[in-house]
Amino acid sequence: MTKRNEWEEFFDGHAPAYMENSFTKNTLAEVDFLIEELQLPPGSRILDMGCGTGRHSVELARRGYLMTGVDISSGMLDEARKAANEANVKVDWIHADATEFRSNDTFDAAICLCEGAFGLLGKDGDPFEHGLSILRNISTAVKPNAKVIFTVLNGLALIRRSKQEDVQQGRFDPTTMAEVSPMEYDTSEGKKSLLLRERGFVPTELVMMFRQIGFEVQDIWGGTAGKWGRRQIDLDEMEIMVTASKTSII
Ligand SMILES: C[S@@+](CC[C@H](N)C(=O)[O-])C[C@H]1O[C@@H](n2cnc3c(N)ncnc32)[C@H](O)[C@@H]1O
Repeated sequence: MTKRNEWEEFFDGHAPAYMENSFTKNTLAEVDFLIEELQLPPGSRILDMGCGTGRHSVELARRGYLMTGVDISSGMLDEARKAANEANVKVDWIHADATEFRSNDTFDAAICLCEGAFGLLGKDGDPFEHGLSILRNISTAVKPNAKVIFTVLNGLALIRRSKQEDVQQGRFDPTTMAEVSPMEYDTSEGKKSLLLRERGFVPTELVMMFRQIGFEVQDIWGGTAGKWGRRQIDLDEMEIMVTASKTSII
């Protein structure tokens, strides 16, 4: 089957090794944090957009939440299914592109973590519409007042580390905040490399984007794996966390 974009191809190949990444090693503490922030009783329904290998969904399901995980990569979802079986929990796994995923289910909350689809643009993906469409689809899927938690690539750090040569050589586009980098991964046929395009976000635009779709941002905190906390962003850290509530129906 043709892949929808390079990220699907990358994550299908990378899936079996994904949980070896050091940034996946904080899942239990992250789930503690999510539960404290969401303040929802077990039995509540949570949507996990760009769920990957399901590390948050499976742990939240273990703690009694009714989880639905959406991902573009069938390879990542295969790993997620294995993890759910091992943990003996049930999660609804949906193979879909978050920019197209529509659901009339009524979720009590949504999470989109470790970029989880939000800034992962395909080669031809519209850098502005991509994130907005994901927010719109989440907004349709959650109840009024539902809380959402995202972690996204920190655009401030991208700007601070980029050089004029990066712009000239097409590695960083300051008009879209998109970065293009080669990424290597292992496959059964050996190593493969792909040019991947992802974008960072600055806090001010995040507030505007969320507001445009009917969410009010409550907090913007530092959101780098291993350093989640109710704290100010470090300018050079990898990720930003956004917590917001759905305030209106668009
Ligand atoms: C860095 S991983 C994060 C996975 C998980 N949320 C975590 O915290 O480990 C990004 C995930 O987003 C998925 N993804 C990328 N683009 C997507 C899209 N357009 N729709 C749905 N999932 C997407 C990838 O397949 C991958 O599993």
